[in-house]
Amino acid sequence: MILLTGGTGYIGSHTAVEFINEGYDVVLADDLSNSERRVVDRIGQITGKVPAFEELDVCDKAALDRLFRKYHIDAVVHFAGYKAVGESVAEPVKYYRNNLDSTLALLEVMKVHNCRKFIFSSSATVYGENQDVPFTEDSPAGSCTNPYGRTKFFIEQILSDCAKADPELSVVLLRYFNPIGAHESGLIGEKPNGVPNNLMPYITQTAAGIRHHLSVFGNDYDTPDGTGVRDYIHVVDLAQGHLAAYRYLCGAGKGGCHTFNLGTGKGSSVLEIIHAFEEAAGIAIPYEITERRPGDIAECYADVSKAEKILGWKAVHSLKEMCASSWNWQQKSAE
Ligand code: UD1
Repeated sequence: MILLTGGTGYIGSHTAVEFINEGYDVVLADDLSNSERRVVDRIGQITGKVPAFEELDVCDKAALDRLFRKYHIDAVVHFAGYKAVGESVAEPVKYYRNNLDSTLALLEVMKVHNCRKFIFSSSATVYGENQDVPFTEDSPAGSCTNPYGRTKFFIEQILSDCAKADPELSVVLLRYFNPIGAHESGLIGEKPNGVPNNLMPYITQTAAGIRHHLSVFGNDYDTPDGTGVRDYIHVVDLAQGHLAAYRYLCGAGKGGCHTFNLGTGKGSSVLEIIHAFEEAAGIAIPYEITERRPGDIAECYADVSKAEKILGWKAVHSLKEMCASSWNWQQKSAE
């Protein structure tokens, strides 16, 4: 059985669907602090199999220990964590405490129960500023612009140290670029708390009339149209990347700590995303150009050749599909 911490969240729920569709048994653990219990049934509706679910805080070692006694856990995919960049700047201790403690608790309990496969939800945010694109897995990491990003970087370091110390432990670090989109059913997707910080939820809420207009944060970057360039990846492609990582870890005698970028390898600007969305949804998005957002970089996109070569994985969904599925989810999530 595979444990997905944060399994009812945006990426966790889509990954659960892909694992179940491939015939794997999964148990989702989540404290529901930023997701809803009904996601479990939605996953069941999509796959025809309702996954096991345990409501718990992953920092709670005793609760984790009970979970590992109840199920035979072969591998952990660790999604659980706080992820709001602005909040992490205002409340760094909350972020370090939660994101680091949960990982340490998992590592301790996994060791006791001899569970030796760990897949971690990392982020392209670890590459930070002042670097040439595309980012390869060997690009320098650690110059993050906020505490949230640093928790991802620190956890990568911790996992790498643990894999060095224990040859039985196999770790995969997955550095996500910008996940958008939703499952084609429209039953699961990203549900931001309050005003969205990320671009796509802000666009879909503007299209739905919840937000008046979109602010484009700067058009004076050194990019083709002056707006920020990112590597947007369909969340279903991203979810399948976890499946490929799991299969890789199951290969004989892996051990070690292996890092992979999960992106498309293609950068799109904010204006390109707005126009792609307008075309996919048939709705005009009112926007205005404003100041740059502090901490933003001009360009961030992946070199994806390592994942393609070693994991045999590649993103296949188009930008149009990403926009259309985001809009489908926005409309259905209001129901
Ligand atoms: C952000 C986080 C990153 C995190 C990721 C998770 C920052 C600095 N980085 O990435 O650490 O891993 O989310 O999804 O917050 N934009 C607008 N108007 C908006 C919102 C965004 O113009 O209302 C622009 C941004 O300036 C950027 C692009 O859209 O150029 C993407 O922004 P966003 O979706 O917030 O993602 P990142 O900043 O790349």
